[in-house]
Amino acid sequence: MQIVIVGNGRMGRAVAALAAERGHAVRVIGREENAGGAALTPERLAGVDIAIEFTRPDAVAGNLERLIEAGVPTVTGTTGWTAERPRIERLVRSRGGALLYAANFSIGVHLFLRAARELAALFAKRPEFGAFILEEHHAGKLDAPSGTAALLREKGREADPVREFPITSVRAGFIPGTHQLTYDGPHESVSLSHVARSRAGFAVGALAAAEWLPGRPGFHSFEAMLFGGAG
Ligand SMILES: NC(=O)c1ccc[n+]([C@@H]2O[C@H](COP(=O)([O-])OP(=O)(O)OC[C@H]3O[C@@H](n4cnc5c(N)ncnc54)[C@H](OP(=O)(O)O)[C@@H]3O)[C@@H](O)[C@H]2O)c1
Repeated sequence: MQIVIVGNGRMGRAVAALAAERGHAVRVIGREENAGGAALTPERLAGVDIAIEFTRPDAVAGNLERLIEAGVPTVTGTTGWTAERPRIERLVRSRGGALLYAANFSIGVHLFLRAARELAALFAKRPEFGAFILEEHHAGKLDAPSGTAALLREKGREADPVREFPITSVRAGFIPGTHQLTYDGPHESVSLSHVARSRAGFAVGALAAAEWLPGRPGFHSFEAMLFGGAG
């Protein structure tokens, strides 16, 4: 496939390397080349099968608008744009576009989220345990809490609407991403955690989504792609 990668940062570079290894034709668009969205016009994107977008919370919505208007199926992993999501979803549907968004492209994280929901259901009738979420990421991550921590809280609340599931975020060093759900009782503590060892796991998932998306209009989640069903 002809793949355009928007964003030449840590994730953009990791996905570009993997896509090239897998035999795709890859073009990476950095911030300077894309000033004012200049690189995301139908003319500049002619012949592109799919775009993979990993930029910044303040850039993602504008990039997605242009990519959808240009008719390019797009996978984005950029986090921190929840407020703009309804507008982008409407645009995707009105233009018959294809967009897949995941706050986390690791397959292990999505299995972890399912396990967390089970755990929350088991602890729902145990008020003597306090529940909390801890997430840790490298110092360069701009948004907090992480999109994955917000998802973890959502899964917990689905199973146990009474609890708050407060989130504590740590931003330090080089941590690729750690998420932990803990139930702490008077005499014991139970924790479920996911630890990303590198960005490679995210790149593998994002590229799998990019290979899946063409020909599938609509606003998709990685979870629906992995497990089927809506959302
Ligand atoms: N979904 C997942 O699995 C997953 C995994 C890891 C990270 N993330 C998220 O993905 C995003 C990127 O993470 P990262 O670690 O790659 O960040 P990063 O290293 O800071 O890279 C972001 C890159 O985007 C560039 N950029 C900014 N505005 C742009 C624009 N309008 N057009 C093109 N490029 C633009 C930045 O350029 P300048 O530096 O010149 O501004 C930078 O090179 C973050 O939101 C992060 O939370 C998601």
